[in-house]
Amino acid sequence: MHTPSASRYAHAAFQARCGKSGLHLPKISLGLWHNFGSVDDPATARAIALRAFDLGVTHFDLANNYGPVPGSAEETFGRILREDLASHRDELIISTKAGYTMWPGPHGDFGSRKYLLASLDQSLKRLGLPYVDIFYSHRRDPNTPMEETMGALAHAVRSGKALYAAISNYNAEDTARACAILRDLGTPCVVHQPKYSLFERTPEAGLLDVVAKEGIGCAVFSPLAQGLLTDRYLQGIPSDARAGKAHGFLRPEQIDEARLAKVRALGALAAERGQPLASLALAWVLRDRRVTSAIIGASKVSQLEQCVAAASSAPLSSEELKRIDAILAA
Ligand SMILES: NC(=O)c1ccc[n+]([C@@H]2O[C@H](COP(=O)([O-])OP(=O)(O)OC[C@H]3O[C@@H](n4cnc5c(N)ncnc54)[C@H](OP(=O)(O)O)[C@@H]3O)[C@@H](O)[C@H]2O)c1
Repeated sequence: MHTPSASRYAHAAFQARCGKSGLHLPKISLGLWHNFGSVDDPATARAIALRAFDLGVTHFDLANNYGPVPGSAEETFGRILREDLASHRDELIISTKAGYTMWPGPHGDFGSRKYLLASLDQSLKRLGLPYVDIFYSHRRDPNTPMEETMGALAHAVRSGKALYAAISNYNAEDTARACAILRDLGTPCVVHQPKYSLFERTPEAGLLDVVAKEGIGCAVFSPLAQGLLTDRYLQGIPSDARAGKAHGFLRPEQIDEARLAKVRALGALAAERGQPLASLALAWVLRDRRVTSAIIGASKVSQLEQCVAAASSAPLSSEELKRIDAILAA
C-alpha cells in the first residue's frame, strides 16, 4: 500500500469547484488514454499515478477503450487502486466513458442505452470497483435520441454505479439540450470534457459560454495537443514519444514545419517567462475561469511534475495574450 505525501492538499487553490456542483477537480488531472495500456511498462504507469496522487492530483480520467488493448488502461489502474490506493478511494475522482467502438455489433459503439450500461458494467469489472465517480457519454450519437443516451447516464447514477453524469465532445447546442434533459431527470450534468488547447480553440466559439450558463464544470483534454505544445518534437520525433510509437494517436504527418514554427515562437515566449512551453500551454488553458481542470497525459514522472507545477504559474498579462494570438495567427 502506498503512503501518500502528507502535503498533498497543501495548495488549496489546486482544487476547483466543478461549476455549481459540490464536486471538486484538481486544476491538473491525469488522463490514462496513453501510457497505461497493456503495451506500456506497468512500473512507470504506477510511478506516474502515485506521484500524481502525492501532488494532489485526485482525478484520474479513463474510458472503456483506453489501452491498447482497449480496456487495459482500466485494468492497469484497477491494479494500482487495489495494491496502492485502496484506502484512499474516497479521496479519488475516477471517471470513465463509453461512446467509441468497444465491441462488434450495433451495441458496442455510440450512445444506445444498451451500449452505455453494458459498457459501464464492464468498466467496473476491469477497475474492480462498485462505482465510478463520473460516467461520460464520450460523444454525441446522431442516430440515437438524446433522451435515450441521457436516460442511460441518469440510470447509471440512480443505480449507484456512477455518482455524476457527464458528457464529452458535444457541441454547444447539444450540450445545452443534454443539460436540460439531465436536469429534468434529476441527475444534472456536472462536467463537459472538450478538446481545448492553443492549437484547438473551437470551444471559444460558444461551448464555453454554454458551460458557464449551465453552471457545469469544464475539464479540457489534450491541453498540450498530445505533446506538440512541448519541446518534445523540436529535434525530430523521438522513438519513445507518442508520434514515434505505432499505436500513438499523434501521427508524424501532423508535425509539420508550420506547426513547429509556432511551437518555437511560443517556446521563446515561455522562455522569457522563465518556464517551459508545456507550462505556458497549461497556464493558457487555465487562464479561463470557465475551465475547471486540464486533463494531461504523461509518459514520465518528470513530465507530470512539470505539468502540476504549471498550475501555479504567474498569470498571463494582456500583452502576453496578444503576443500568443499573433503567433497563432501567423
Ligand atoms: N474525451 C475525449 O474524447 C478524449 C480524447 C483524448 C484525450 N482525452 C483525455 O485527456 C487525457 C490527456 O490527453 P493527451 O494525453 O492527449 O494530453 P496532452 O497533455 O495534450 O498530451 C500528453 C503528452 O504530452 C507529452 N507531455 C506531457 N507533459 C510534458 C512535459 N512536461 N514536457 C514534454 N512533453 C510532455 C507526453 O508525450 P509523450 O508520451 O510523447 O512523452 C504526453 O503523453 C487523456 O489521457 C484522456 O484522459 C479525452
